[in-house]
Amino acid sequence: MENLQPKKIEDSAAETIQLVLAEHLNGYDRLFGGQLVAWIDILAGVVARRHAGKNVTTACIDNLRFRKAAHANDIVVMRGRLTHVGRTSMEVRVDTYIEDITGLREQINTAYLVLVALDENEQPSPVPPLILETEEDKIAWEAAERRQELRRQRRIEQF
Ligand SMILES: CC(C)(COP(=O)(O)OP(=O)(O)OC[C@H]1O[C@@H](n2cnc3c(N)ncnc32)[C@H](O)[C@@H]1OP(=O)(O)O)[C@@H](O)C(=O)NCCC(=O)NCCS
Repeated sequence: MENLQPKKIEDSAAETIQLVLAEHLNGYDRLFGGQLVAWIDILAGVVARRHAGKNVTTACIDNLRFRKAAHANDIVVMRGRLTHVGRTSMEVRVDTYIEDITGLREQINTAYLVLVALDENEQPSPVPPLILETEEDKIAWEAAERRQELRRQRRIEQF
């Protein structure tokens, strides 16, 4: 029988930093949105893989809101943490900030991704339960449940 001990959100939470270089810019000298999505996807994959202890794949990316542009030489900080787990799926919230020279951070993006744990046959595989420790964790979980229900309805409508 597989060991699926509950895990805390902090056990898998992760932060990553990128420096915006010339190769990351679009034709308007701003950070290319697709590059940011790639960084966000990698970070969410790390968070989900840590929680699941298995390989994971991205099922969907949504609520990807670009509030502000990033430019060359900006430090981009991304923080990812689990907001919800189902039987085999996990929702990760990734907040992205620009950090200035004084260390002050301004948020530029929020994204929610759903990742699914896979077994050795690349089929969805169960993940450990999530321990919710704070009132914020519980509010985030309930909001994630509503998003997951909306995604389920969207899938039914699309196929
Ligand atoms: C994601 C994938 C593994 C799901 O497989 P599936 O056969 O549809 O699996 P199921 O219907 O049993 O769903 C498994 C879980 O994923 C969730 N899920 C599946 N598609 C989803 C979507 N589009 N959005 C949110 N959750 C989704 C289900 O709700 C379910 O969650 P639960 O186990 O926590 O209840 C499969 O669709 C896949 O491999 N897609 C390609 C992923 C990929 O290649 N990503 C890289 C980007 S190119």
